Amino acid sequence: MRNVSGSPAGKPRHGATGWSGVRGKRVVVTGGTRGLGEQIVRLLAAEGARVATCARTAEDLAALAASVDTAELFTDALDVTEPGRLESFVATSAKRFGGLDGVVACVGGSRGGRFERAEAEDWAATWEMNVGHTARLVRTAVPHLRAAGGGSVVVISSISGWKPGPYVQYGVAKSAQIQLAASLARELGPNGIRVNAVSPGSMLIPGRRWDRMRRDDPDGFAAFVAAELPGGAPVAPEEVARVVAFLLSDLSSGISGAHLPVDRAQNAPSPDGY
Ligand SMILES: NC(=O)c1ccc[n+]([C@@H]2O[C@H](COP(=O)([O-])OP(=O)(O)OC[C@H]3O[C@@H](n4cnc5c(N)ncnc54)[C@H](OP(=O)(O)O)[C@@H]3O)[C@@H](O)[C@H]2O)c1
Repeated sequence: MRNVSGSPAGKPRHGATGWSGVRGKRVVVTGGTRGLGEQIVRLLAAEGARVATCARTAEDLAALAASVDTAELFTDALDVTEPGRLESFVATSAKRFGGLDGVVACVGGSRGGRFERAEAEDWAATWEMNVGHTARLVRTAVPHLRAAGGGSVVVISSISGWKPGPYVQYGVAKSAQIQLAASLARELGPNGIRVNAVSPGSMLIPGRRWDRMRRDDPDGFAAFVAAELPGGAPVAPEEVARVVAFLLSDLSSGISGAHLPVDRAQNAPSPDGY
């Protein structure tokens, strides 16, 4: 099993890549205070992009802004599932930046338990957090992207969106995001807008599920890695962030409608079976 070192949450764990593919791009990223979203925001800022991000916790947004070395970060505390708030955030971001060149739908997650315990409200909440928020984000951004002569949309799906595993309400929603990206790539292509889906594998995020399992159940974690992760370790959020930045950049101008797994050839999404 390969050793993957984490660093304390909130600390940048990578520098700029050295290429200027997103320099000056104006990008909205939902859910930028933790996990993958945080790494996307930090990388884009390091590369010279102008970034707007949101989360529900104002203190975390303030801490992020204080630790990112750019004057070009705009933050807003909101719940993306609250009607109208996401839309006004996108509009305000476009106004502050004088337009938009890209959006990243990164907020996502699951509500409820296994199939027989998951209620209708769990399905609805999971759908809205993943698919609903993505659709409203893109719909609101389209006029701004079109006005800029085109742009790039990145939808964060999951390995759970194309490989079976619990919880099914989550997998179904992440699967729908892949379909959404493929369809919108066709529908928005004539406007010069590219749309792609990125599916991370099980990411090793400090303090989150796989990191906790590595600490609390090292034998179970080692068995998970041996069975499902031929790369010898879960993918790191920084690795996924680099792919997202590439898709936002003009360097990827030929890619649209793609579904791009970033999972080191992971097999099952979790050790939880099916
Ligand atoms: N973690 C994994 O292993 C994994 C694997 C594959 C795919 N993914 C996908 O990758 C994406 C990011 O996952 P993650 O694990 O990195 O996320 P995370 O650590 O749970 O972070 C979520 C971020 O989104 C914000 N957020 C959550 N709900 C929100 C809401 N309703 N409105 C506004 N902001 C909200 C959080 O801040 P607040 O809590 O303050 O709102 C935080 O900034 C998700 O789409 C997830 O499905 C994750």
